[in-house]
Amino acid sequence: MNISIIMNNLLFRNNNSADYIDDKEIEALQRELSKLQISISEKKCAGNEFLGWVNLPSEISENFLKDIEDCAKKIRDNSEYFVIIGIGGSYLGARAVIESLRNSFSDFDKSAPKILYAGHNLSEDYLSEMVNFLKDKSFSMAVISKSGTTTEPAVAFRLLKQLLEKKVGQEAAKERIIAITDKEKGALKILANQNDYKTYVVPDNVGGRFSVLTAVGLLPIAVAGFDISRLVKGAKKMQEICGASSLLAENPAAHYAASRNILYQKGFKTEILVSFRPKLQYFGEWWKQLFGESEGKEGKGIFPAAVNFTTDLHSMGQYIQDGQRTIFETFITVEKPNKSLKIPSEEQNLDGLNYLAGKDIEFVNRRAEMATAIAHVDGGVPVLQIIIPEINENSIGQLIYFFEKACAYSGLILGVNPFDQPGVEAYKKNMFSLLGKPGFEDKKLNERAGL
Ligand code: PA5
Repeated sequence: MNISIIMNNLLFRNNNSADYIDDKEIEALQRELSKLQISISEKKCAGNEFLGWVNLPSEISENFLKDIEDCAKKIRDNSEYFVIIGIGGSYLGARAVIESLRNSFSDFDKSAPKILYAGHNLSEDYLSEMVNFLKDKSFSMAVISKSGTTTEPAVAFRLLKQLLEKKVGQEAAKERIIAITDKEKGALKILANQNDYKTYVVPDNVGGRFSVLTAVGLLPIAVAGFDISRLVKGAKKMQEICGASSLLAENPAAHYAASRNILYQKGFKTEILVSFRPKLQYFGEWWKQLFGESEGKEGKGIFPAAVNFTTDLHSMGQYIQDGQRTIFETFITVEKPNKSLKIPSEEQNLDGLNYLAGKDIEFVNRRAEMATAIAHVDGGVPVLQIIIPEINENSIGQLIYFFEKACAYSGLILGVNPFDQPGVEAYKKNMFSLLGKPGFEDKKLNERAGL
């Protein structure tokens, strides 16, 4: 089946997987998807208390965007650096968008502060290097935690808050701290209230990994200098396309969800998101969390991995081509680069590259992409393909919504609740016990850890 949607919008194709996905299977899933479309829109599916992301793009008001932009402007005017403190869904969305859009070597917008990330690890080296680095810099920060109780961002925030207060004084520090958290619950909310921080709310009905189009993602993205209205517009376009029809021929997210689930049923248990653009590396990280945390439960779920080609063709490429045949790939193809650069000619041609002289680098990259897809299909790896016109706010917004909707369909087809993450608690419970947190005492566990 082939999909063709108006130019400038994301396309999905599964032609390269024709040997593995037959029309009868698609038809069977079509019926299921039509029912799912209704249960999602009527909020009757599993996890229905977390469906706030479904209509989010069309519900974001101009006023809200203006408020975010005003807040971002203030930060941009007074800070050299902006630290985004958060983990998982409270940081990956912002990072995915910022890394996709920023210049790889110089800052996109000279007036924007440089973006740093904290609270996504517990590394003493990382944090002490950051504290040391920031001690003589002008900085602001957003501390982002829906629950307001997550250990990693709490530790980073305590350190950076104290550093900032020492540098500029308690009153001035308040002007440089934004808290993004629950409307009423959690330690961060209490702290924010007591200190009068500017606060944004993570809506109750939007889970962390679906929150990039709330203040969680929009504020950092605006601070970094990117057009959040255009991002939301792209997402809204995809919301319209995926909401208008559940027909696989018209709804790319449903078509993708159906295709990957058919492959999963046939033993393709690992999906690798492939991009030939290093800018999309963090988009892969965001995607891994979205699908991994949404689907990996009850002993089920496609394992999400991501690679950057051609870089990883020289490492993971061997396994993908010849290793265990349990992998399928989803290529994100970008139709057009944002810059242009031609391969120069050289008189001596010692490197033998003159046959490419005058060609764009893009020409070589796209040929590499086509060659890889064919080689992998020939090696027994089904390849799905998502095509976007270019990397910009609009297409990234489309991609975000496309994957969110596909993830919901996909998890529901699998029979799990895509919006919870009960498994994440296991390590936390153990960690608190090993750290000696009151209320988490467990002698046996401490013995098992050799403590
Ligand atoms: O998607 C999720 O719900 C998680 O990845 C959370 O975003 C992550 O665990 C961080 O949680 P919090 O925002 O409560 O600090």
